Amino acid sequence: MTEVAEPATVDDVFPLDRSCPFAPPPAYEKMRETGPVQRVKLQSGQEAWAVTRLEDVRQMLTDPRFSSDRFNPGFPILTKQGRPVRRDNFTPSLINMDPPEHGAARREVVGEFTVKRMKALQPRIQQIVDEHIDAILAGPKPADLVSALSLPVPSLVICEQLGVPYADHEFFQSRSSTLLNREVTQEARMQAVEEMQDYLDKLVSAKEADPTDDLLGRQILKQREEHGDVDHDSLVSLAFLLLLAGHETTANMISLGTVALLENPDQLAIIKNDPGKTLDAVEELLRYFTIAEFATSRVATEDVEIGGQLIRAGEGVLGLSYSGNRDEAAFENADELDLERGARHHVAFGFGPHQCLGQNLARMELQIVFDTLFRRVPSLELATSVDDLPFKDDANIYGLYRLPVTW
Ligand code: HEM
Repeated sequence: MTEVAEPATVDDVFPLDRSCPFAPPPAYEKMRETGPVQRVKLQSGQEAWAVTRLEDVRQMLTDPRFSSDRFNPGFPILTKQGRPVRRDNFTPSLINMDPPEHGAARREVVGEFTVKRMKALQPRIQQIVDEHIDAILAGPKPADLVSALSLPVPSLVICEQLGVPYADHEFFQSRSSTLLNREVTQEARMQAVEEMQDYLDKLVSAKEADPTDDLLGRQILKQREEHGDVDHDSLVSLAFLLLLAGHETTANMISLGTVALLENPDQLAIIKNDPGKTLDAVEELLRYFTIAEFATSRVATEDVEIGGQLIRAGEGVLGLSYSGNRDEAAFENADELDLERGARHHVAFGFGPHQCLGQNLARMELQIVFDTLFRRVPSLELATSVDDLPFKDDANIYGLYRLPVTW
């Protein structure tokens, strides 16, 4: 008779604490070695499987037997408060959908995010970055890079792309921040969802009455032409997802990337000496921080074997992209920041059908920001010690709340 080994388990509750702001929880390394797919406990009281090796994470994210339906009872929830209440008029957005609906919905918008489209945005992004750096240089020292650059740049870009008035940025930035915080109450989260939903509901209605030349306006015209009418609720959900995903993620990468470069002057010198290397540097920074590691969670809809472990239908799985991105089997000296390593096979944008729709935009924003910031402010430095920086240990997207800098 073959003996089936009991799967290894991790005693601490997920999300695990980090011991260093520049590295994932130390347990990940041991997990990759001792049992790459392990049973873990979550703050919500659920149990789930944690997949830790890059190849297994990729396999899981391309296997259609894993669902993205966050309202499936087995889907892993990372907050203490447990599963959010489903609103009566809830309409799934891309990130919650499964095939075949997912592919059809994604095809509707993918044309808005092609490399060609992003190239056309380049001059405007450059202008936005320059204006914000002008303002920083004209203002007092120290400056908070988060509020002066990291947040406004991607927020303005996604607002202009979608057709959302930037004047409302405080409204949607504060709601987004609540939604991504793991510590807030269920009531606060629901209120933030409802307020965002109502805001975007009115905005989409206004655009239906008078379609503007932006992503939402174009979707309205396209839907009318192809289907005769507009799927209002789906457009509101799409706007919600794009607005949230479009600014918080890139903003955090700008802040974290800046700190990492300032803390590693030899690495910073590489892009200062040769801006042609910034795009590779961006890939490495994305790998190094993997800010959205829990976005790649799923629930099995059938029994599936991953990394030699049987996962039963209905069981939740964390595809730990941060662990995969520090897997020595895929990245030599994975814990080192090495801007020249060629890190494009990382999974910081996920992998498979749900791989980040905005990745070309994010790459371009990051490339322009790092190139311009260090060229125009060569003496940039932290105005506080790294130990005093407020890292977002309580948020589902890792990042920084504030980043005091001087020059
Ligand atoms: C550094 C910046 C970013 C990171 C690290 C990031 C990360 C991710 C990850 C890991 C996923 C996969 C989720 C899954 O597997 O279910 C994802 C999906 C997505 N991202 Fe991003 N993202 C970034 C920027 C953006 C931007 C700028 C936008 C929009 C303009 C965006 C829009 C989306 C959308 C719409 C999806 C869902 C795609 C789908 O389910 O088909 N992201 N992102």
